[in-house]
Amino acid sequence: MVIVLLGPPGAGKGTQCKRIVEKYKLVHLSSGDILRSHRANGTELGKKAAEFMDSGKLVPDQLIIEMMAGAIESAQGNCVLDGFPRTVVQAAELDKELLRKGQKIDAIVNLVIDDNVIEKRLTGRRSCPACGAVYHIDTLKPKAESFCDKCPKQELVQRTDDKPEVVKQRLQTYHHQTAAVVGYYAEKGRQVLDIDAEKSVDEVTKLVIEKLDSLAAV
Ligand code: AP5
Repeated sequence: MVIVLLGPPGAGKGTQCKRIVEKYKLVHLSSGDILRSHRANGTELGKKAAEFMDSGKLVPDQLIIEMMAGAIESAQGNCVLDGFPRTVVQAAELDKELLRKGQKIDAIVNLVIDDNVIEKRLTGRRSCPACGAVYHIDTLKPKAESFCDKCPKQELVQRTDDKPEVVKQRLQTYHHQTAAVVGYYAEKGRQVLDIDAEKSVDEVTKLVIEKLDSLAAV
């Protein structure tokens, strides 16, 4: 089963994916997390991606498509895609790749949220470099200030692309290049499940699960 989770930066894709994969026993494939792990490991792909990521721009399609095709293969086609596809080219390639494997996208969820809410979410986000857990300085505080709940000695960090000027660029990139992916699916007659992502984390999860459960495929 393949679920695609769409939405602008900071809409809560990663937060919700962690809950969706637990409920439906799927693999979480976040293109951003995979890229960050390439960077941390100093791979060629990580080096090529760094400049794009730090400036809030998209990493070139061809690099991403190859990387995600490999990840989907490893997940044996049972996954939630977070942050991919992010351009119409990526969406079309994903369709082709799944068709080759005799698969299709089972559900497309779109987290809908205003830019003003996003800026507060991203500039307040902190994450654990060891386990990837995500917190927020106001809405999702760790038990001990600045330290991860799961890795108590690990100090939380701010992502380099969560600085206000980069967040602005990421939002622009979303509106210019990524928002069109919703239109791509609508044109193909696919159902896109819009979710109000401005509600609390638990309320958003409830809405997402209700919608997914209402689809016979899940
Ligand atoms: P990526 O890592 O994918 O970043 P993103 O899409 O910009 O998404 P984020 O991870 O910032 O946000 P999120 O929606 O997951 O929100 P989260 O749950 O963390 O990509 C980074 C970069 O990699 C891109 O800019 C690009 O350069 C490159 N890249 C990645 N994929 C690519 C692709 N396919 N093609 C080309 N380039 C690609 O939540 C955010 C904060 O809000 C957290 O603090 C959280 O605690 C809080 N929060 C979440 N939900 C709620 C809620 N309901 N109420 C209150 N607070 C909440």
